[in-house]
Amino acid sequence: MSPMHAEPEFWEERYRAGQTPWEFPGVPPALTRFLARNPARLGDTVLVPGCGSGQELAAFAAAGYAVTAVDFSATAVDRARARVPAGAAVALHCADFFTCPLAAAGYRLIYERTFVCALDPARWAAVTARIASLLRPEGRWVGLFYEGPKEDGPPFGWDGGEAEELLRARLEPLLTLPVPPAESPALFAGREWWREWRRPAEA
Ligand SMILES: C[S@@+](CC[C@H](N)C(=O)[O-])C[C@H]1O[C@@H](n2cnc3c(N)ncnc32)[C@H](O)[C@@H]1O
Repeated sequence: MSPMHAEPEFWEERYRAGQTPWEFPGVPPALTRFLARNPARLGDTVLVPGCGSGQELAAFAAAGYAVTAVDFSATAVDRARARVPAGAAVALHCADFFTCPLAAAGYRLIYERTFVCALDPARWAAVTARIASLLRPEGRWVGLFYEGPKEDGPPFGWDGGEAEELLRARLEPLLTLPVPPAESPALFAGREWWREWRRPAEA
């Protein structure tokens, strides 16, 4: 039997009850800084897996990216939809990230914030393989990665060992920056890192 947090109901209950301690109230400043450094070029796309209530989607669209976002909690997707301005280039899907049809090698960017730490470490190999297969060659997986204990999650912290090895088998590390504690919700303060990984050109 799959663990409770692998099912949409686990997250759905928390969104409905307003128990969402992982949420940052707005666009994370680290993402704002990234978008200032990386405005979209023509045709650039971003995928946001486990987008939750979608705080970041309008910011990506305003920076020129065509956005695809996926979450399997219907309440989260409704909240995300309500945040997106009319006419913005944002496609939202209420679906399982691992099985929904997405464009293979289709995305210039994939954005991470508290999605992979929602997954049991037993799924790290599957999630890194799926992410790498969805990136265009030279596309980047960027965002806020949680480092902490990997037991008793969610959140499950990436441990810098096994997770790092899985990633390095498919993606090149480009950048790691600390995130000031004030820029994270209390649950993650001092434990989020802005990271950027690239799919090699020849992959
Ligand atoms: C900790 S929340 C993070 C939400 C959002 N990224 C944020 O920063 O507020 C994890 C999210 O991942 C979603 N999720 C977990 N497993 C998923 C899966 N297999 N497919 C799609 N969404 C999933 C949950 O519904 C939840 O919204």
